[in-house]
Amino acid sequence: MLPLKNCNNIGDLRLRARSKLPSPMFHYIDGGADDEWTLRRNTEAFDDYQLMPNYLNDISHVDLSTNILGCGLTLPFLLSPTGMSRLFHHHKELGVSKAAAEAGTLYTLSTMATTSLEDVAAASDGPKMFQIYILKDRELTKEFVQRCKASGYKALCLTVDTALAGNRERDAVYGMTMPPKINRNNFFSYAKSWEWLLNMALNPDFKLANVVHRVDALGQGAMGLIEYVNSQFDRSVTWDDVAWLAEQWDGPFVIKGMTTVSDARRAVEVGATAAMLSNHGGRQLDGVPAPIDTLMPIRDAVGDKLELILDGGIRRGTHIVKALAMGANACSIGRPYLYGLAAGGQAGVARAIEILKSEVERDLALLGCSSIAELRSDHISQLNMKM
Ligand code: FNR
Repeated sequence: MLPLKNCNNIGDLRLRARSKLPSPMFHYIDGGADDEWTLRRNTEAFDDYQLMPNYLNDISHVDLSTNILGCGLTLPFLLSPTGMSRLFHHHKELGVSKAAAEAGTLYTLSTMATTSLEDVAAASDGPKMFQIYILKDRELTKEFVQRCKASGYKALCLTVDTALAGNRERDAVYGMTMPPKINRNNFFSYAKSWEWLLNMALNPDFKLANVVHRVDALGQGAMGLIEYVNSQFDRSVTWDDVAWLAEQWDGPFVIKGMTTVSDARRAVEVGATAAMLSNHGGRQLDGVPAPIDTLMPIRDAVGDKLELILDGGIRRGTHIVKALAMGANACSIGRPYLYGLAAGGQAGVARAIEILKSEVERDLALLGCSSIAELRSDHISQLNMKM
């Protein structure tokens, strides 16, 4: 297993995470829906776009600073929401949010987090966004909005591609359950990760911290936490509910899970600040396009009425540079920092961020740009253009 400091790229962090985690946890991070076509395509699609450098510009200083959602960030990428970080390391969401703050970027906390939104807010001064669902219990949804306001969250991010869970077959194959349970079939995969197992036994603090009070209110044993949350997903949500939520929040508002031009136009109509072009990292509907392939048509359609955040498949600095040149205001990453978390807790997340930061810095300079603002569409040439 490579030591953290010798992990040179996100792929190395992934391999280290794989050695440290029991198989159910690793594949829960790594896997996607159905045949994982979209999961693979999310990264592979970047290869359809080539970078076109312009030399002999002054690149003595390279400035990565970016403005998004009213926040000035040191980096052009944010951290996407991912549920249940405690499964991967006991530093959980606190470690991730602190690493993001130290690097000068924004952390998005999931509704399904294992740390409460108040505890994450108190842990660092960095800018934070809360990822929300419109749940059947609208009072609970409203309560989240109030709690986020009280805790100083900068933005709210509504995920719209998860009215029901995608078909993630690796979870069945490797025996992933929530909470994790050891049985005869997966015993050996847990046993090989004795460090993880010991740690979980010593700190059995796995809980969905943002909703646990609701389940407690229902009475002990009335319903398991996971069953409760699953029962809260609402298939009847429409754009009217989105408009209602945007009004409740009345601040920078992101809609996460946009793929089509028509949905992006609706996002403008409901007053969203930004759309996160995302397919949930290939974990929901298999067969949808990679976010990078949706970017240019959406930018053409919405002009500057919407900030666009590209989320999905980013594993290299060149991926970020391509997305920014093609019209994204910022990018966002999920698995890269989760591999880091599993590989080494907060230090591993910091390593993931540092790897991508130094790649973007070098790539920008090699492209002949001294800032993010200098990236333009003529830095890109598209391969295999179909007429
Ligand atoms: C996610 N994602 C996610 N999205 C969301 O809106 N709420 C959530 O709770 C989660 N949980 C979650 C768990 C895990 C293990 C993964 C890998 C992903 C999706 C996430 O925010 C993001 O869209 C993708 O991870 C982006 O793709 P990459 O960067 O992982 O390729």
